[in-house]
Amino acid sequence: MNNPLKEAATLQFYRRKSGVKWIVLILSVIIAVGSIFYTNFLVSEIKEREEKQINLYAKTLEQVSGQFLNPDINYFVLDEIISSNNTIPVILTNEDGHLTSKNVPEVEGAKDDIERQRILQKEVEEMKEVYAPIPITFRDESGQVYGYGNIYYRNSILLTRLRYYPYIQLTVIALFALIAYTIFSYSRIAEQNQVWVGLAKETAHQLGTPLSSLMAWVEYFKLEGGETAEIAEELKKDVDRLEMITSRFSSIGSIPQLKNYDIVDVTTKSIAYLEKRVSTRTIFSLESFPEGAISANINKSLFEWVIENLCKNAVDAMGGIGSISIKILKVNEGRIAIDITDTGKGIPKKSLSKVFSPGYTTKKRGWGLGLTLVKRIIENYHTGKIYVKSSEIDKGTTFRILLNA
Ligand SMILES: Nc1ncnc2c1ncn2[C@@H]1O[C@H](COP(=O)(O)OP(=O)(O)OP(=O)(O)O)[C@@H](O)[C@H]1O
Ligand SMILES: [Mg+2]
Repeated sequence: MNNPLKEAATLQFYRRKSGVKWIVLILSVIIAVGSIFYTNFLVSEIKEREEKQINLYAKTLEQVSGQFLNPDINYFVLDEIISSNNTIPVILTNEDGHLTSKNVPEVEGAKDDIERQRILQKEVEEMKEVYAPIPITFRDESGQVYGYGNIYYRNSILLTRLRYYPYIQLTVIALFALIAYTIFSYSRIAEQNQVWVGLAKETAHQLGTPLSSLMAWVEYFKLEGGETAEIAEELKKDVDRLEMITSRFSSIGSIPQLKNYDIVDVTTKSIAYLEKRVSTRTIFSLESFPEGAISANINKSLFEWVIENLCKNAVDAMGGIGSISIKILKVNEGRIAIDITDTGKGIPKKSLSKVFSPGYTTKKRGWGLGLTLVKRIIENYHTGKIYVKSSEIDKGTTFRILLNA
């Protein structure tokens, strides 16, 4: 029997969730690449302008050197063009190798001209690597050459900052998004917890009333004797089962009490119960290392629920034919491991990360909640761990539970 409502709910939930994730990821990459590209475009525009400005600077210098007769033009040119460069670092050399500079902050701390020359020389070496120097020729007013020089320059600090800006900006945004995502997912988990606990509590509460009435009736029929008492005995088994279910729901709906139990014994009883209810072609076995009782702090009804869920999944995976072997062992650091191995169809590698997610199922009539519940019980209520220890297609699967002793 197909359940269209269920299929619609779970499948759509899964597709939508992973679809949205991809869209967000792709959009983020587009935005990041786009902003880096745009800034690079701006950088190259500004770079071009700075180069033009330097060329103009060089030409002006050449002109000015021959125009000492006309102080008006001189001052205008000097003020408007040469002094207007407040950002691009330039160094001017003349034939004797003497260096003068503008916008080179490195020389500010120099204590004398010797040190200043040394610093500028170093800067010149670095500038040479990036841009070829612009040669200039000095002439006097009659056009007679009286010297040669070179202008060295590099890009302004503004340009350098602009180049790194998108990376810094994107890092800050990514960090912010990460923090926001963490906060949101925490609040989502808190909300889910509330739903789980609330629903379980309510279910236990609602089952409680008719159950106590049923129990009273069973006792009454037992006293009748004869055939009625026999029927009452059978009825009692179902009532007990209902009581167990109620106790599971009530345990998961509150902070459950953990008590010391011999888990070999508890597991043996769970298996005995299950064995009667599955195909006779499912063979159960249980071993413990070391042999004998192994005790751990558990909530009995929740622990039984875990064993039942894992064994039911194992039976499903084997189509009812095969063997389920359970090993209970003491491992390091006082921990106890419970390995449940089946000879079923195995779990594909790509699904391993999904089996514990709510809604993940490969079964026509599954809800994909069994393992979610198991993980909750083990990790939240017993501070233990559960994971797929190994799985091989068509060979079988081993789930491992780790508990504190
Ligand atoms: N022992 C196993 N061997 C192979 N696959 C498994 C095994 N246990 C779980 N799975 C896979 O993990 C899926 C999720 O299991 P889970 O118990 O959470 O849900 P379900 O069994 O499908 O439904 P239900 O809510 O009824 O338990 C299963 O549908 C199955 O594909
Ligand atoms: Mg299941």
